[in-house]
Amino acid sequence: MLNNIKQPSNNFIFHLLRVLVLILLFQIAKSQDNIPTASSPKYKKGMVVCATPYAAQVGLDILKKGGNVIDAAVAVQFALQVTHPEAGNIGGGGLMVYRAANGTTKTLDFREKAPANSNANMYLDSTGKVIPDLSLNTRKASGVPGSVDGMATAHKKLGSLKWAELIQPAIDLARKGFKISKRLANDLNRTKSDFVKNNQQNAYLINENGWKEGDLLVQEDLAKTLELIRDKGRDGFYSGPVANLIVKEMKSGNGIITNADLENYHSVWRNAITGDYKKYHIITMPPPSSGGVALLQLLQSVKKYPLIKWGFNSDSTVQVMVEAERRVYADRSKYLGDPDFFKVPVDSLINPQYNQKRMENFDWNAATLSSAILPGIVAGYESDQTTHYSIVDGEGNAVSITTTLNDTFGSKVFVGGAGFLLNDEMDDFSIKPGVPNMYGLVGGKANSIEPGKRMLSSMTPTIVEKDGKLFMVVGTPGGSTIITSVFQTILNVIEFNFDMQQAVDAKKFHHQWLPDVVTIEKGALQENCKNILISKGYKLVEKGAIGRVDAILITNDGYYQGGADPRGDDTKLGW
Ligand code: DON
Repeated sequence: MLNNIKQPSNNFIFHLLRVLVLILLFQIAKSQDNIPTASSPKYKKGMVVCATPYAAQVGLDILKKGGNVIDAAVAVQFALQVTHPEAGNIGGGGLMVYRAANGTTKTLDFREKAPANSNANMYLDSTGKVIPDLSLNTRKASGVPGSVDGMATAHKKLGSLKWAELIQPAIDLARKGFKISKRLANDLNRTKSDFVKNNQQNAYLINENGWKEGDLLVQEDLAKTLELIRDKGRDGFYSGPVANLIVKEMKSGNGIITNADLENYHSVWRNAITGDYKKYHIITMPPPSSGGVALLQLLQSVKKYPLIKWGFNSDSTVQVMVEAERRVYADRSKYLGDPDFFKVPVDSLINPQYNQKRMENFDWNAATLSSAILPGIVAGYESDQTTHYSIVDGEGNAVSITTTLNDTFGSKVFVGGAGFLLNDEMDDFSIKPGVPNMYGLVGGKANSIEPGKRMLSSMTPTIVEKDGKLFMVVGTPGGSTIITSVFQTILNVIEFNFDMQQAVDAKKFHHQWLPDVVTIEKGALQENCKNILISKGYKLVEKGAIGRVDAILITNDGYYQGGADPRGDDTKLGW
């Protein structure tokens, strides 16, 4: 009898151990496959994923008050200005992709513009050489900011709550202060000497004793600027005291933005560009972003390959994706620029046959040399300077917005008296044909400087539909790696069946034609995969973090599932 009782108990322990060993083996196998594990809470009434917990909370509060995605986006945008100063962004610009619950789409281009007094040679010396740093760390590096106009324009057309109500949370955060994260403390301490060097009188964000996690950051001048924007809308920024302070700041150095440049700034509604990848429909940003065109090209280029069979980050998957990236970035260098100034052959570039043909000359046995790849003939590195946020509301409206100051803390020039940083976006132009910009990207005529022109961007805010329904909202900062990060995140979900958080967590790699190297995050590729690629002639370079993706997935059962990038302080909140 006793034996009979003991027997099942032994069996139970044996089975338990067996299950535990199996779970352990499964986890080890998974980690060897580099497939991250994570689970995410799910929401139905709305979700915000963005770079700081404060801004995410502001966005969620607006949704809970009955605001729609655009209301939440405006509130998040201004809250990020206060709580994520690395990326600004009232002194910068950005791009928005919007999809209404009924399926209609729009994009808003609030990218900065070259000032009227700019010209193609403005960063060259008399011998035609690029003057180091002039397009990056000076007053002359700034394009005319677009973000305030962008937010006002979006709100006017699509917002529902009162504008003032959306700006107030940012004013409160600026005036009362907020506790800074370790990351922001480090970023501020690291940039202190640049702030001092570039702003003899008006350096903000400096703590003589050094910032530490949990310190309170109060920004009174910024609060006053935001109050003017709250009370006067776009005019609170583009005319009156703030505009005058921007122009005064310009005059105190070599800056060229005038009051007329500010008055004349207007964002532009543009039709989204779209393409199909298997049963998914991709809705993304047209030029002056190169990101949307490149993303569609990349997806068309890899479509016919059995990525799912090869597996996530296997040598064959990486090789095909890298070869696609090499070809697409070569096209970017020649054909992409501001469509208001240069005829970008969008339809030809995103044509599926064109991209599949571009892949025909790649050789499985050896890396194609970038020197052997020219832009096709068609019919027609890590930091926090940019930020992305994805928002959905309870009705199913979605918005994907990426904004940037370009470099971390932009030009590091503050607008004295107004409390915010200016962008150094002029470096995104091709300041001399063939000379790489800060991201190593090269360009030519399509992206040369002309007064009033928008500099080419890699920002790739994107929305994906499946069977005609909202499926994913995605985007990231990361300079030239933005495009490939969005590409990989989408494939991680639709080819490799990751959930949203896993897709965001997954380690990434990147190729951009020139320089001819594959940059990889530590741990992205297994040793044997690396060895195979190296033996075929790929140059692998390990790099810190790639991208900072904030995304939302709509699950089969209709829930919102977020992916907030652990590479930053990124936060997902929903209800
Ligand atoms: O618009 C662009 O492509 C660049 N100014 C983006 C810069 C960026 O993403 C930096 N981020 N980490």
